[in-house]
Amino acid sequence: MEPAEILQAAKTVIANNDHDGQYTIPAHGLYPHQWLWDSCFVAIGMANYDVKRAQQEILSLLRGQWANGMLPSMILNKDFTHRADREFWRSYISPFAPDKVATSGITQPPMLAEAIVKIGKQLPKPARRTWFAKTYPALLKYHQWLYNDRDPHHTGLTLQVHSWETGLDNTPPWIDELHQHRLPFWINTIHTLKLDKIFTVFRRDVHFLASSVEQRMSTIDVFTLYSIQRRLRRKAYDINRILTHNMLTIEDLTFNCIFVRANQHLRYIARTIGHDIPDELDKRMRQSDQAIDELWDEQTGNYYSRNYATQKLIKLPTLAGLMPLYAGCVSKEKAAQLVEILNSKPYKTKYPVPTVPTNSDWFHPMMYWQGPTWLNTNWLLADGLERYGYKEEAAHIRERSIDMVTKSGFYEYFSPLDATPAGTDNFSWTAAMIIDFLS
Ligand code: GLC
Repeated sequence: MEPAEILQAAKTVIANNDHDGQYTIPAHGLYPHQWLWDSCFVAIGMANYDVKRAQQEILSLLRGQWANGMLPSMILNKDFTHRADREFWRSYISPFAPDKVATSGITQPPMLAEAIVKIGKQLPKPARRTWFAKTYPALLKYHQWLYNDRDPHHTGLTLQVHSWETGLDNTPPWIDELHQHRLPFWINTIHTLKLDKIFTVFRRDVHFLASSVEQRMSTIDVFTLYSIQRRLRRKAYDINRILTHNMLTIEDLTFNCIFVRANQHLRYIARTIGHDIPDELDKRMRQSDQAIDELWDEQTGNYYSRNYATQKLIKLPTLAGLMPLYAGCVSKEKAAQLVEILNSKPYKTKYPVPTVPTNSDWFHPMMYWQGPTWLNTNWLLADGLERYGYKEEAAHIRERSIDMVTKSGFYEYFSPLDATPAGTDNFSWTAAMIIDFLS
């Protein structure tokens, strides 16, 4: 396929996932709602050819914002057929949730600022200012919420209450910590009696995906994630109640790197429209730039997520270790060390960059976030590498990504070894990232 043909095919994927011209669902079947970081990635791709529609994508996201500033990870489809999902989350139990929109009760990586800026870049100056002025109040409130709610001890790092908040649902550091946490008795019973197979048939991913067994997490892990969600719901998604109940919380590396970069964008947006960042926020943003380095482990020469309660680094190598390149706040020397890791054999697969290095016990080429290559993480890395001056490395990731999708289609994720596609087909952000790479 020629680049022009791929571009056209990518636009068609996005158009087919359009919901009433308002927002884009990640994929039909498996993902029928609006997701926070998905919509941001889609808007980044779309901004290259339909900036108005990209703006709409973001404005649709903002309708879900909670009164306390939180942007929910999902805005749930209103259709009758999706009532079970709305009942699952019951956002109405929180006094902060919007009245007329059903949402999830947790957030997702703060990609909003990046999407707003990327859209702004496509607009002439006066329109850019109008666009920034329109979105700034919501963005500011969201960043303030992240500090107020999620950084209670003013460390500069935010904590996450569920692996779904990281967008990397079953990434090894979270799953490993979960396995060490005590499971509710009913999950243990199902596990001991080996009843999980019975429940597996009810899973949405199993229903929609042909070879789900080797590509999705185990039913026991799914139950565990659901049980955490139920506990969060019982606390009405109130962070004070969540923290006093000693639930698993992690200062997730990817999330915090994205936040640091988002803060840089927030500053740029504020400057463009002549606003001063409030002093308190300004102080905390500067603190975050320094705080990423607290997640560095000298012994293994890598960055890791940290368990919030124990303050112990979770030393399992994943792609997250390279995300400080995207954050842009680490020294040139540290960046060079990360590039060395990126160029080492466990990451230098035929179709890079694997979400878990191939020499890890956790590595599985097809398993959801435990090995496969995803387009959004490749986009983040390429963007970071470019800004640190590693143009060749960035170009390599982009070229291999395009080759991978040309070979296998617009799937959700791919084997880093041979590009075997996995997850759902016609996945929006895969298409959007390819559009951005080609542009
Ligand atoms: C999966 C991914 C998450 C994404 C969602 C919708 O849950 O792990 O990152 O936002 O699907 O595509």
